[in-house]
Amino acid sequence: MNRKIRVAIVFGGQSTEHEISILSARNVLAALDRSRFEPLLIGIDKGGRWLMQDPDRLLASARDPRLVRLEDGRPVSKDLIVPRGPGDAAGSIDVLFPVLHGTMGEDGTVQGLFELAGIPYVGAGVLGSAIGMDKDVSKRLLREAGIPVADFVTLRRERFDIDPAGALAQLGRLGLPVFTKPANAGSSVGIRKVTDAAAIEDAIRHAFQFDCKVLVEAAVTAREIELAVLGGNPPSVSVAGEIVVRHPDGFYSYDAKYIDESGARLELPAPLTADELTRAQAMAGRAFEVLECEGMARVDLFLRPDGTFLVNEINTIPGFTAISMYPKLWELSGIAPAGLVSRLIDLALDRGRRRAALRRSMSD
Ligand SMILES: Nc1ncnc2c1ncn2[C@@H]1O[C@H](COP(=O)(O)OP(=O)(O)OP(=O)(O)O)[C@@H](O)[C@H]1O
Ligand SMILES: [Mg+2]
Repeated sequence: MNRKIRVAIVFGGQSTEHEISILSARNVLAALDRSRFEPLLIGIDKGGRWLMQDPDRLLASARDPRLVRLEDGRPVSKDLIVPRGPGDAAGSIDVLFPVLHGTMGEDGTVQGLFELAGIPYVGAGVLGSAIGMDKDVSKRLLREAGIPVADFVTLRRERFDIDPAGALAQLGRLGLPVFTKPANAGSSVGIRKVTDAAAIEDAIRHAFQFDCKVLVEAAVTAREIELAVLGGNPPSVSVAGEIVVRHPDGFYSYDAKYIDESGARLELPAPLTADELTRAQAMAGRAFEVLECEGMARVDLFLRPDGTFLVNEINTIPGFTAISMYPKLWELSGIAPAGLVSRLIDLALDRGRRRAALRRSMSD
């Protein structure tokens, strides 16, 4: 019998979502079909060290983000993921499954390392990951494809520092309230809802603490609808879920997401008409393709009172925790976690084979 496919799950990381990533990785591991796959666990600690983790210990770990932590495992061997050139993977990992959120995980950086190592990996490639992480670039591409997004203005730190008044003068058309957000962040970190013009500058400066590029976005009155997309040709789109926010912050803020247990409620499935669901699924599928996604993504939409949808954002490595939308939406759509994880790995292996078959010069 052939040996099992060795899957390295890479998780933890140096982002604010380190603990969420551990919970997600545990669920990916629990869903791994051990008759086909053999797990290898690579935990990235908050200092950036790559440490081997024990599967049984991860499976036995707490389910509360406040209680989980990586074990102080032995450092990952330097020979495991090294640049070998595309198609020349000689190491012992057959496929990588990044379960990392935010910068240095979801933004194409780690995907670039996997490319150099010549090892197939789950999810979006370098380009799709980088696009998905950048709210400015992704919204521009969506708009260019005719997919509606909220009106926004992008500000850059260097320019803003020289001429804040000039930057603020561009914001008039957005009206109030606006949302100020770092272009590259997640978990609502650095985001504020501004209802008073006098507070905009401070909110922009706050967002600039997290990124050198900041979006000021017109607030839309809308329901928040999320869909899961699974790669393939064409990609499949799940049923929809809804986030119903009930929090004094007045939006799906960091506190509403992670701190206040009653800050938001998930409606599964979202109460939508058949027509709304069809339009939401079509928009999510198109956004996935326009933004160069592969494998998986969660697409977050706004549904306005007039029945029209906008794309808010796309997440190329969605959460896999017990309460995460991505696996729940697939379960509701008839794909259980084990089938989902197998499918994602198979898609990664397919892409790896396609890329290995590409010609790299004119003469070979
Ligand atoms: N233009 C807008 N109009 C209304 N609400 C908004 C707008 N932009 C953001 N919000 C609110 O702020 C929340 C966070 O914004 P957004 O999804 O852009 O940030 P995020 O940090 O990337 O979140 P994630 O963790 O999903 O990646 C949204 O879920 C929504 O509640
Ligand atoms: Mg969001």
